Amino acid sequence: TRPRVWVSQPLFADIVGRLHEHFDVTATGEVTQHAPAAIAAALRDADGALVTLNDPIGAAEISGAPRLRAIANVAVGYNNLDVAAMSAAGILVTNTPDVLTETTADFGFALMMAAARRITEAERWLRDGEWQRWSFDTMLGGDVHGTTLGILGMGRIGQGIARRAAGFNMRVLYHNRSRVPEAVERECRASWVDFDGLLAQSDHLVLVLPYSPQVHHLIGAAALAKMKPSATLINIARGGIVDEDALADALQGGRLAAAGLDVFEGEPAVNPRLLALRNVVLTPHIASGSLATRRAMVSLAVDNLIAALGFGPDAGVPPTPVNADMLKRKR
Ligand code: GLV
Ligand code: GLV
Repeated sequence: TRPRVWVSQPLFADIVGRLHEHFDVTATGEVTQHAPAAIAAALRDADGALVTLNDPIGAAEISGAPRLRAIANVAVGYNNLDVAAMSAAGILVTNTPDVLTETTADFGFALMMAAARRITEAERWLRDGEWQRWSFDTMLGGDVHGTTLGILGMGRIGQGIARRAAGFNMRVLYHNRSRVPEAVERECRASWVDFDGLLAQSDHLVLVLPYSPQVHHLIGAAALAKMKPSATLINIARGGIVDEDALADALQGGRLAAAGLDVFEGEPAVNPRLLALRNVVLTPHIASGSLATRRAMVSLAVDNLIAALGFGPDAGVPPTPVNADMLKRKR
């Protein structure tokens, strides 16, 4: 009998259709916020699963799934998955790095520019029919060119943002647990600083670090107090890194000029205090959302799942594993 796979959300049907070549596929027809019990039920008889950020899977959800061998996440981040529990259960996890790097870096830059130059606020003002009130100081913002860009998390996406900054004549600082190789620093024209130095010196601070419990609310009241009142904060990483109430306090109190947020702690819910503020640009977790890139992410996830379950040209060797040590343990 053919292995069974579960596809948790509607994705690009022409790409996901490749799974039918090897597997019996149970696909979810509509966007669904699956309850934990529904995820457990869907995984019960499955050999593999193709899932998204909106599908949290932990030890409980996999405990009744004895056949499950692979979970392909259609995202680079995988904090929706308890990878330790999956490794313990012999389940291979894969993600979708690289294919989304440049598109996501584009969006980080776009959010920074929109927040600094008040683009969405100005558009609302225009649509509200306010243009007759235009004056010389309408919607004055902060500059991007020639300022200091701070990057928290100098991975692939952080490096992509740093490379873009060269065209804007920005000084680039970054903080990371470990310094990136000197050749990368040189190519990105970026200098390492400690966390407090990054907070204090950045005119625009972009968060691109992976989420883990250790960085929960890393950007809270204390960190925000160290930033320049003229600074902007951009988050394209995970909502939980920022204490949204502390951010709302800072934006409201004039202790931070603006923010651009693509991710939120309670997605799809957005903190009502942020919704009420004018100086924050809010987007619904779309940083990797160009058509070409979203298709490439699904394609990579499908390749991963097919290979992880032992089929296709890369049988047994999925292109982008998360817990690669699983591969060594097998066979
Ligand atoms: C999006 O947030 C991703 O992790 O791919
Ligand atoms: C994600 O791909 C990162 O390394 O930033």
